[in-house]
Amino acid sequence: MIIAIDGPSGAGKSTVAKAVAKHLGFSCLDTGAMYRCIALAALEAGVELSDEQRCASIAREKAISFGHVEGDPVPKRVFIDGVEVTDDIRTARIDRSVSIVSAHPLVREALVEQQRRLGHQGDFVIEGRDIGTVVFPKAEVKVFLTASNEERARRRVLQNEQRGVGSVDFDEVLADIVRRDELDSSRETAPLIAAEDAVRMDSTGRTIEDVIDDICTRARAARGF
Ligand code: DC
Repeated sequence: MIIAIDGPSGAGKSTVAKAVAKHLGFSCLDTGAMYRCIALAALEAGVELSDEQRCASIAREKAISFGHVEGDPVPKRVFIDGVEVTDDIRTARIDRSVSIVSAHPLVREALVEQQRRLGHQGDFVIEGRDIGTVVFPKAEVKVFLTASNEERARRRVLQNEQRGVGSVDFDEVLADIVRRDELDSSRETAPLIAAEDAVRMDSTGRTIEDVIDDICTRARAARGF
């Protein structure tokens, strides 16, 4: 079974996806982390982010993998060719670069292929922007998770504070969120839009536990238990 969770950055997708996976005993895939890895690898290799061919070669050649922190069943560690990049892909520099890289159709093609291969291996909660529309259009449960811009910026600042990486300036984070939404929604390939059959959930003013419960109930109903 595939549970697709799409939506803009900061809507709570990662927290929700990981918790739903834990509750249901599913694997979890963060596709945003994969695009972030390509942005990081391109910057480190000195590749122009606008160079679609070279970014796509990186997407085809680099092995992105996920790992667990001890005692936690949900994979939160990220590796490129075996080297841990968990924190390196969450910096403000990557926040600014990733939309350019993820707009390239050839980069998307390479990563979507990997996402489908992984997702076919079992029950997965997959979070991203195009999971319910492009990657797994037949996903059994599709959620489009949103929250107000201000709420999303507040959460991202808190997250950055806790992690000790990324900007903690509210206005800067808010501006980045708005800019990134625009880029993600207006790109030609797989723009950020809700699938017609996705359940729209607005997490503003709703507890994250309530959203998690809601999705788990829908997944159980889709499974028939
Ligand atoms: O979810 P995130 O903020 O980590 O995603 C990072 C970037 O990757 C974001 O700007 C949108 C892009 N992305 C995408 O284009 N398609 C996906 N399936 C997931 C993320």
